[in-house]
Amino acid sequence: MQLTSTVLILFLLVFKIRAVTKRSIDLIETHNLISDTRLPHDIAPTSYKLVLSPYPFNGTFSGQVIIGLVWQEETNKIVLHAHESLTVFHDSTTVKLINGDGNESVEYFEDDNSNETPAITQVIKVISTEKTKSFYTITLEKPVKNKSRGFIEIFFTGILVDNRSEGMFRISYVDNDGLDNWIIGTNFRPNRARMAFPCFDEPAYKVPFNISVAHHKSTNAISNMPPLAMDEHDDPGWMWTHFSITPPMSTFSVGVVVGSLKRIIYNISKTDDLVFLTPSPLDVSLGVWGTIQYLPEIEKSLEKIATSLRALQEFWSLPYPLPKLDCVALPYYHSSRPSDSWGLIMFKENELTAKGSWQITHELVYQWLGNWASPYWWTDAHINNALARYVTTYITLKITDHNETFHNWPMTMLYSIYYEFSKRYPHGKATAIKQDSGSAKTELVFRMLNYTLGEHTVIHGLQRFMSERQYSTFFGDDTWASITDQARFDKTLDDTISATDIAASWILKDRLPVVDVERNYGDGSANITQKVYLRERPHDVPDQEKFLWWIPIVMVNQSNLDFTKFTPVKWMKREREVRIENVAKSDEFIIVNPEEIGPFPVNYDCKNWNMLARFLLTNDGRKKIPVNTRAKLLHDAWNLAYAGDLSFGTALNMTLFLQHEREHLAWYPIFTMIDHIGRHIDSSEVHAKFQTYVRLLLTPLYEELGNEPVDGESEGTTQLRESVKVFLCQAGYKPCIKEAQEAFHKWMKAESPDEGNPVQNRYICPVFKWGTKQEWEFGLQRVINFPAERKQNERTYLLKTLAGCPADPWKVEKILNVTIMENNGNFTDNDIYLIFSMLTGSSNGYTTLFNFLNTYWDTIKTRFETKPQLWNALINSATSVFKTQEGLDMVSKLYVEKQGDFGTADFVIEKSLKNIKEETKWSDENLPVIELWLDKYLKDNNVTVDAS
Ligand SMILES: *[C@@H]1O[C@H](CO)[C@@H](O)[C@H](O)[C@H]1NC(C)=O
Ligand SMILES: *[C@@H]1O[C@H](CO)[C@@H](O)[C@H](O)[C@H]1NC(C)=O
Ligand SMILES: *[C@@H]1O[C@H](CO)[C@@H](O)[C@H](O)[C@H]1NC(C)=O
Ligand SMILES: *[C@@H]1O[C@H](CO)[C@@H](O)[C@H](O)[C@H]1NC(C)=O
Ligand SMILES: *[C@@H]1O[C@H](CO)[C@@H](O)[C@H](O)[C@H]1NC(C)=O
Repeated sequence: MQLTSTVLILFLLVFKIRAVTKRSIDLIETHNLISDTRLPHDIAPTSYKLVLSPYPFNGTFSGQVIIGLVWQEETNKIVLHAHESLTVFHDSTTVKLINGDGNESVEYFEDDNSNETPAITQVIKVISTEKTKSFYTITLEKPVKNKSRGFIEIFFTGILVDNRSEGMFRISYVDNDGLDNWIIGTNFRPNRARMAFPCFDEPAYKVPFNISVAHHKSTNAISNMPPLAMDEHDDPGWMWTHFSITPPMSTFSVGVVVGSLKRIIYNISKTDDLVFLTPSPLDVSLGVWGTIQYLPEIEKSLEKIATSLRALQEFWSLPYPLPKLDCVALPYYHSSRPSDSWGLIMFKENELTAKGSWQITHELVYQWLGNWASPYWWTDAHINNALARYVTTYITLKITDHNETFHNWPMTMLYSIYYEFSKRYPHGKATAIKQDSGSAKTELVFRMLNYTLGEHTVIHGLQRFMSERQYSTFFGDDTWASITDQARFDKTLDDTISATDIAASWILKDRLPVVDVERNYGDGSANITQKVYLRERPHDVPDQEKFLWWIPIVMVNQSNLDFTKFTPVKWMKREREVRIENVAKSDEFIIVNPEEIGPFPVNYDCKNWNMLARFLLTNDGRKKIPVNTRAKLLHDAWNLAYAGDLSFGTALNMTLFLQHEREHLAWYPIFTMIDHIGRHIDSSEVHAKFQTYVRLLLTPLYEELGNEPVDGESEGTTQLRESVKVFLCQAGYKPCIKEAQEAFHKWMKAESPDEGNPVQNRYICPVFKWGTKQEWEFGLQRVINFPAERKQNERTYLLKTLAGCPADPWKVEKILNVTIMENNGNFTDNDIYLIFSMLTGSSNGYTTLFNFLNTYWDTIKTRFETKPQLWNALINSATSVFKTQEGLDMVSKLYVEKQGDFGTADFVIEKSLKNIKEETKWSDENLPVIELWLDKYLKDNNVTVDAS
């Protein structure tokens, strides 16, 4: 164990734990990021003196911690965290009390021999540990009175984590001289500081840290604060670096890096170059660190970091609080997120050099939100993440070119939460998805408030929030409360409305509303109603009438197409229905919720939809409606039709303007439509007509874009071309299939085709779908021969496309024969499982699977006797996705014939029958409408349908 030289350090601090019984609105839905048992809270830390000696060569570390304490209740127990991987030397643990008057200022000291701070050693009765909770409990012989002060000293050793970047970890890499070398790093989020030192590992305990690190003289040690002093070490070749004392911070904010790293410091005099922001001084020593090899690469990121940091200072209206900020590029850093301790952020090397500045800004945001103002408990971190993302987006939009693809924000995220929250069972059982979509929704609530209350109110509200909570903690509710205060002050919300109520109505439920606009053309008014948005059928969600939201009704009409003012004409205050007078003249349309200001779709009466469709068809008209609103109208229309809430005739009318549309953002919704609707109707006659329509829409666009990217085109255009190609190919566009086959033939001619696959992934599906028997069988052979040493995900991709793409039954039969009937040893249960799930993607797939099951029932049943999960998966894939009466008849017949023979899959087939009935109803209602519309369109345009 190493002891630091005994420098007496004295400082005063005011320490307060906020009284806490408050609940955050987002707590209730148990967005539990971490289940952690709380410490008893009868004793609080006041400071840490932390001494760490990592030994990368043998993978261990030793350390000493002295924690200042204040008793908040009388107790003889001290409970803190120590991870089970730490070895604590119980015998050297000491607890001492200081004489004092018990006021709030606490002296921190470490030299217990000092005259100024006479300390009384307490007798320890017993020390116990509790592995599952990571608790380290010291029971004293005598209880200690409330308001007493003292400290505890603990010596320990631990293991440096390999292969994972968490706790205190080590990374091995080959340096410039070709030698093996080590780097030490830390990643303590969210509750892993306890892996490196015993501590009160809860975010609400924010106190100063005095950190010292032992390291070899050939290395640098970096921590949260700048180095204060260097010192001799007992071991030759080693030294101590003592760091300045930090401001109060949570244990997860602690960070340490040791390694042979070099630094480049930002030249502050460059500040004046900034053109897009009012220059705000950067009073901080800003540096990037990396290995010598990588340093030149990351130099460029300094400018980006400086720009983001300045923008953030301006956003929060609070200068970055620490004297320095170090961003370290670590080779082989393993965690999915950078390790953002305060004043010290560890990135993967390529994250620091990545295009754009979103990632860097996102990490910098946490220097304020998280490190400076910290969530009180993990559940409050949920809102922290959503707010951090919103702020990151705000800053990114401010500081980057407006032609980055990033500007899909927030559409990509928005569409995916529309799909998720309108399912019968949102998220299924996946809590990770639940957290993601919950966080995305909260981010969109910030965006909604930004538009409806105004940017000024939201930013000033957030500034208010931050300035009141620096060096302190917050609850989820606090952000909304600050925005409410600011909104009252700015008079953007009246006294009956609070941002907290608004936000709560959106955050607390895993649902979104849909707003229905029914215009009364006679008197110029509109009846507006809200209900739960359900897209997947059946819409049998219980208690639907209880769901109500605070919804801003923002409206533009045809004679006043102003897309810059977003003040709501009315808030629906958790009201089912409101009526708005004088919305527009009877021959003019209205648009509600333009620019997707609130995360909800809007339905209108047919007349309003058709006025919109006609307006969008005119060149002048289209240009008057911003692209995100055009996309919204299209996206809402087809999704509402898909949900059964709007006629497909009207929805298809809304796609017509795409013939003239060239902006990629407006096209984006149509690709999901082609996919979702296409799958839904692919067993019927209508499908060929639908594909013909798709080709008619996409071909002119494709011809205009050309086959290859043009120099200097935007990323959006490139993306659009890629999507157009994929969907044209799927719809059987001949030039595309030819191109795919040509690419594929290179592989077929290769001398040793199993060594690698030279064909781009996008070509593979079209070849397996439309291509020859020979081509498809070549693919199958590649899977069978796939060498074990090649990347297995390439094999998986091939297998998925072999099963999922084909448009003719014999290919599917063949793969089923090989994998199931022949019991071919090259295919695992997982492969078979994958094949089953791929076959649900097209009617050819699941119909062939059904017929196969029907024909070979007995053989297959015996084969899967001992594998009920595979059997259930088979019955599910073979029966659940039919969508027509014909399918219903087939499955019902099987159900009757084999009654009692389904075994474990009994409930599966019953569920299937229920689903098919629902889908059949949909098909009966919608297919004739779709067909009628397509027939008329194709006839009006003199097009004949051809199957490929
Ligand atoms: C690791 O090396 C350090 C420093 O040389 C030494 O003190 C420690 O005992 C070693 N630990 C193990 C487990 O060998
Ligand atoms: C906030 O709202 C304003 C309009 O009030 C808009 O210009 C700005 O882009 C919005 N910012 C974000 C990040 O949504
Ligand atoms: C609109 O609401 C009013 C009452 O608020 C009702 O009388 C009227 O029938 C409604 N109109 C439509 C078209 O639903
Ligand atoms: C589609 O648009 C045409 C032309 O405006 C119109 O006649 C027709 O009624 C619309 N169809 C539906 C179902 O709204
Ligand atoms: C963005 O637009 C600017 C000018 O409009 C242009 O100079 C720049 O090259 C564009 N960037 C990209 C990535 O397209």
